[in-house]
Amino acid sequence: MRKPFIAGNWKMNMNNQSSSVLTESIVRELKQLGAERLDVAICPPFVYLHQVGKAVSASNVALGAQDVYYKADGAFTGEISCQMLKDIGCTYVIVGHSERRHVIGETNELINKKLTAAIHNGLLPIFCVGELLEEREARKTKAVVTTQIKKGLAGLDQEKVSAITIAYEPVWAIGTGKTATSAQAEDVHKMIRGLIAEMYGKRLAENIRIQYGGSVKPTNASELMAEEDVDGLLVGGASLIKDDFIAIIEASWRAK
Ligand code: PGA
Repeated sequence: MRKPFIAGNWKMNMNNQSSSVLTESIVRELKQLGAERLDVAICPPFVYLHQVGKAVSASNVALGAQDVYYKADGAFTGEISCQMLKDIGCTYVIVGHSERRHVIGETNELINKKLTAAIHNGLLPIFCVGELLEEREARKTKAVVTTQIKKGLAGLDQEKVSAITIAYEPVWAIGTGKTATSAQAEDVHKMIRGLIAEMYGKRLAENIRIQYGGSVKPTNASELMAEEDVDGLLVGGASLIKDDFIAIIEASWRAK
């Protein structure tokens, strides 16, 4: 059984005060809901990790970062290491988000280094993959996602890959209000699980969690989560609104 996993990716949003207020209210509501059957994580900007970490410390909400650098330490101005994330209490780290791939210019090779370093340091990566609109229209979705997965996981053995959650996020659905249909999501999720089976065997493929991300809302969460191979959600915009994030968690919990 794969435990459903809902993560909130705040991206470059929130401030000192609102990040504490939002986290505290999420923690409070989840306690009442008693949603232990789900894993939940919040991924705030680096500068708010400390206070969000404090607010989740006595709860079952985990702390995640939105990115990491692969070097241990040294002259890398502006970067944050895996050890620093561990030190501040992170369990998860998002790696290869489409905004990092397409806005900042991260390559599959860099993402592979980040995944390798994160696992080596005991962080659990949320490894994002997904196609651009023109790639989908050219029927290249499977080829693009396959390349991202093969290059991203290069050199990682079965044991290491078992630490990873894959997040399928079609780029055309992120922040656009255009969610993939549950059938479109399931189609790619099934393909990813098949690919992992080919690369690492059936057992790992059956255990690895695959999240969907891209305009997830309270109104589409249960339909997406009802799909067999959708094991969780990576939520951007809606994770900034307490009621929406809680509703998504609740809907996911009921759907599984
Ligand atoms: P969105 O973002 O829910 O705002 O579309 C999802 C993501 O980028 O992780």
